[in-house]
Amino acid sequence: MTVTLINNKDQEENDQPKHVVVVMDGNGRWAKKRMMPRTAGHHAGVKSTREIVEDCVKRKIQALTLFAFSSENWQRPEQEVSSLMELFVSTLQSEVKSLDKQNVRVRFIGELSAFSKKLQKKISETKELTKNNTGLQLNIAVNYGGRWDIAEACKAIINKIQSGELQTCDINAELINEYVCLKQLPEPDLFIRTGGEMRISNFLIWQLAYTELYFTDVLWPDFKSEEFSTALDWYAGRQRRFGKTGEQVKPAQTQQV
Ligand code: FPP
Repeated sequence: MTVTLINNKDQEENDQPKHVVVVMDGNGRWAKKRMMPRTAGHHAGVKSTREIVEDCVKRKIQALTLFAFSSENWQRPEQEVSSLMELFVSTLQSEVKSLDKQNVRVRFIGELSAFSKKLQKKISETKELTKNNTGLQLNIAVNYGGRWDIAEACKAIINKIQSGELQTCDINAELINEYVCLKQLPEPDLFIRTGGEMRISNFLIWQLAYTELYFTDVLWPDFKSEEFSTALDWYAGRQRRFGKTGEQVKPAQTQQV
């Protein structure tokens, strides 16, 4: 009889993503279903955010990147935008100590100069306080867009070409990787989008080239530990091939018994 043996260590290492990225969608619909203002949905969303961060810490996931505000979100009603800004300031204020205690390093990606001085100050303080932490790397994407990210990388590369530090023939995917956001982290393994929409919405479009995409109808304020666990179980069942065949990726170790 031939049996297939699985190397448990390799299996376990591959089962858990190193880097999870999340589009936290559905706050507005969650509130609408309860006849509440959209901002109540964003407040409820913060609870899910807290729970998922704590889960990542407990599970020793290396990095979590959250899409909190896209470059396109400025087009929302003025009142919603300003209440989201207030929520970011108050959330950073109330959570930073606990994040620091959990050894979380917080960083931000996006065009931060567009924000109020007050929010920029909170962002700097949060980054500064947690900069030496070695646990979960938490990246918060605010006023972020994937096309903006790529355009910024192009500008930086062109500057280096103009100053003679690089040549046009040096440009390849590896070089561009060094100029986009999150370059210091493993590429995202798992993308989660809540709220039922099946699109990327200009989030990390360069970085997601080989990421496993998980979509759920669950609205973000309802996405808690149990839902996260379901997403991680789904990920553990995926075979990541990066363009190779299934056999090349996981050669079966067979043995006659
Ligand atoms: C999308 O739902 C959600 C947002 C634009 C905001 C998400 C922000 C938080 C959960 C707060 C997290 C705070 C920090 C500091 C990280 P939506 O409004 O588009 O929902 P809808 O599709 O139902 O209208």
